[in-house]
Amino acid sequence: MIQSIAGKTVVLTGASGGIGLYIARALAKEQATVVSISRSIQRLETVDAEVKALGSKSIIIPFDLTNLQELPVLGQQINQLAGSVDILINNAAVETCQAFKNSSLADNQSMLLTNLQAPIELTRLLLPNMIRQGIGHIVNIASLAGKKGTPYNSIYSASKAGLIMWSDAIRQELSGTQVGVSMICPGYVSAGMFLRTTVPVPKFAGISTPSEVAIATIKAIQHNKAEVIVGSSFSRILYAVEQLSPEFADAIYRWMGVAKLNQKRAENQRHTEKLV
Ligand SMILES: NC(=O)c1ccc[n+]([C@@H]2O[C@H](COP(=O)([O-])OP(=O)(O)OC[C@H]3O[C@@H](n4cnc5c(N)ncnc54)[C@H](OP(=O)(O)O)[C@@H]3O)[C@@H](O)[C@H]2O)c1
Repeated sequence: MIQSIAGKTVVLTGASGGIGLYIARALAKEQATVVSISRSIQRLETVDAEVKALGSKSIIIPFDLTNLQELPVLGQQINQLAGSVDILINNAAVETCQAFKNSSLADNQSMLLTNLQAPIELTRLLLPNMIRQGIGHIVNIASLAGKKGTPYNSIYSASKAGLIMWSDAIRQELSGTQVGVSMICPGYVSAGMFLRTTVPVPKFAGISTPSEVAIATIKAIQHNKAEVIVGSSFSRILYAVEQLSPEFADAIYRWMGVAKLNQKRAENQRHTEKLV
């Protein structure tokens, strides 16, 4: 298993996003070679400059992960530019808050492709070499939205629940190899997709910083952790309650105002789309 990240080659998807940038910086501080992937070349160039400024090797590859058929081409590019991969961090995701009855095939497909199918297929592409070289680690950045269904965010929730269960299953399949699997489950984070919808956090939910998620990611790799929850102690208790009584957990969510919050986020997202 991987104890030191120094000198390792790490593929990081969604490197240009709110949390991704913090993970890229944390990897650079550990002296990893960071292979950053996302769609926007301009935003990747910012990551590139930051990683290099921290004294690490940086490779950027603009790629749309929803192009599943083209993933082998991405695999070849990674191989040519970076050589063999030691660590894959599946971080890229998209989120559209809305009532399920109003959702569209395009939105639902985009979330399921980016958040669930792309991590599965990219892992399927890079895993055989990790097994062959006798070392490797897969990190899936999930969400507490995958631990309990989130009203007005049901497809995002479904994609993250899928990611959690798939991680859980492959971790067990790979237990006889030197490839570890970790999932990171952040609650609300003060960066990225949550911050953009400009709503207050529900009571008792707490909010984590993107640095906390980045540190949890590094530690999960170094200590081969199966799952790390980045959030308040209250959320941990809530997800234990969910296993015993989903109805009681529903009542707690209503009291916290989770549905109202996501309705507001949906409104804000629609408003932002109209302005763009
Ligand atoms: N922020 C939170 O409160 C929070 C809470 C829990 C979990 N999370 C999870 O944390 C991770 C990072 O979230 P974030 O808040 O940093 O999101 P974000 O700011 O929206 O960033 C998402 C990243 O994914 C990339 N991306 C999106 N679609 C892509 C595609 N089709 N192909 C390639 N790259 C794509 C984006 O870059 P391009 O647009 O340039 O492609 C961007 O770099 C996600 O897995 C998210 O579900 C976030």
